[in-house]
Amino acid sequence: MDIRDCLKQDHDEVKNLMTQICATDDASDAKKLFRQVKDMLTAHERSEEKVVYTALKKLTDEDEKELGFEGEVEHALADSLVEQLGHGSASTAPWKARAKVLKELLEHHIEEEESDIFDCLEQEFDDAQREKMGAAFVKGKEALLAAHA
Ligand SMILES: [Fe+2]
Ligand SMILES: [Fe+2]
Repeated sequence: MDIRDCLKQDHDEVKNLMTQICATDDASDAKKLFRQVKDMLTAHERSEEKVVYTALKKLTDEDEKELGFEGEVEHALADSLVEQLGHGSASTAPWKARAKVLKELLEHHIEEEESDIFDCLEQEFDDAQREKMGAAFVKGKEALLAAHA
């Protein structure tokens, strides 16, 4: 599968889970959904950094290179919120506020990825390369999920 389709699938799932987390009033449901987001988001980010951002950072165009670095910074911000959300009760105002900020951060990040990074992948890599990246991304992500399970 083309790397862009692999990424898009995860993005849709993460956005959906974050919407559910922010919509529920049931704290135990929120925590359960959060654990799902945490596992898949972390694996997605690490595999994306390894396969996609590493490739972008090797390009010669400065703006394209920057996309890889910018993505890493946004991942670090998301990771920090994910770490904070791992503590405390989901019924408290601070927890809900963090969840809302994470949702907004991820929506912004995903939007940029699916526009700027997808355009760059279209221009700088051919079909075969994008298929190869897709396979490497899925393999990397599954290995991370298996190691964590
Ligand atoms: Fe992504
Ligand atoms: Fe990302």
